[in-house]
Amino acid sequence: MIPIDLSGKVALVTGVGDNESFAWYISKALNAAGAKLVLSCHPRFKGIVESIMEREADAESRVLPYGAGNLKVEKILACDVGFDTMDDVDEKTRNDRRFAKHGDYSIQGMIEAVGKEFQHIDVLIHSVAFSPEITKMMVDTSRKAYATALSVSAYSLTSLLRAARPYMANRPDGAAAVGLTYIGGDRVVPHYGGGMSTAKAALQIDAKQLASNLGPEKIRVNLISAGPYASRAARAIGDIDQMINYAAQRSPLQRGITPEEVANSTVFLCSPLASGITGHVLYVDAGYNVMGL
Ligand SMILES: NC(=O)c1ccc[n+]([C@@H]2O[C@H](COP(=O)([O-])OP(=O)(O)OC[C@H]3O[C@@H](n4cnc5c(N)ncnc54)[C@H](O)[C@@H]3O)[C@@H](O)[C@H]2O)c1
Repeated sequence: MIPIDLSGKVALVTGVGDNESFAWYISKALNAAGAKLVLSCHPRFKGIVESIMEREADAESRVLPYGAGNLKVEKILACDVGFDTMDDVDEKTRNDRRFAKHGDYSIQGMIEAVGKEFQHIDVLIHSVAFSPEITKMMVDTSRKAYATALSVSAYSLTSLLRAARPYMANRPDGAAAVGLTYIGGDRVVPHYGGGMSTAKAALQIDAKQLASNLGPEKIRVNLISAGPYASRAARAIGDIDQMINYAAQRSPLQRGITPEEVANSTVFLCSPLASGITGHVLYVDAGYNVMGL
């Protein structure tokens, strides 16, 4: 049997918004493989995630796969990945009490808090995306929303890796970053607007650039291109059930994907079994991407 053993590794997972997020399932799979978990949540979602970690009603969602017990999180930190440092925070956000109560919620501040407590980061998961105009077609997308989509959904990977680099570089087994992308960054998916298709295209070439930049320090950077799945963010697109059914009917496997499948593939990419893989986009989409008709 080939085991995946991440015990002793520190995994920083961004993008847990609730217990349906891809990041939630990824966290559980990493934890089941033995990794210590730090979650970085949007400042307005940190409280929700903390309560999911405690509430009896959510106990079932905390059960780990492979009989590995229950989800254990070392720390939950607040971070808005739209801000590299607190100097970038605009006046309105600065005065918002839902943000201010967290102290330093920038990427730099969050990563420094992890580094101070754990000294190193072996795994970094980027599972964050946002456009304020996701329901608008590309042709109707404003410049402002387009820039926000790129900043939050794509540039954040670069910023996170730059901040985490001192803690990820030259780890004995190397370190791994995995981000989530979508086929809407390769080809036209109607309604995947608001600059999100552009953000995914940018994320994909950025991941390759970052793999090249950071490879000499034994940091691998890969993406998973997941098939459609009805998370909170995806439901905001509007026609997610239709997208899931369409893909399921046309996929070689004739079905949609599960968040557990995305999580398992993520753990594989973070593990020594994938030590030779970097700069890669792995499709976890029941094969949908190979179809021409
Ligand atoms: N659901 C799908 O069909 C699908 C398919 C392919 C790829 N993806 C990608 O998977 C990733 C996770 O999405 P999901 O489907 O699990 O949805 P989700 O809504 O559960 O996760 C998105 C997360 O992004 C966070 N976020 C948004 N703006 C942020 C900011 N400024 N700072 C910090 N966090 C912020 C939200 O709080 C949320 O936790 C995204 O990159 C998404 O594009 C999703």
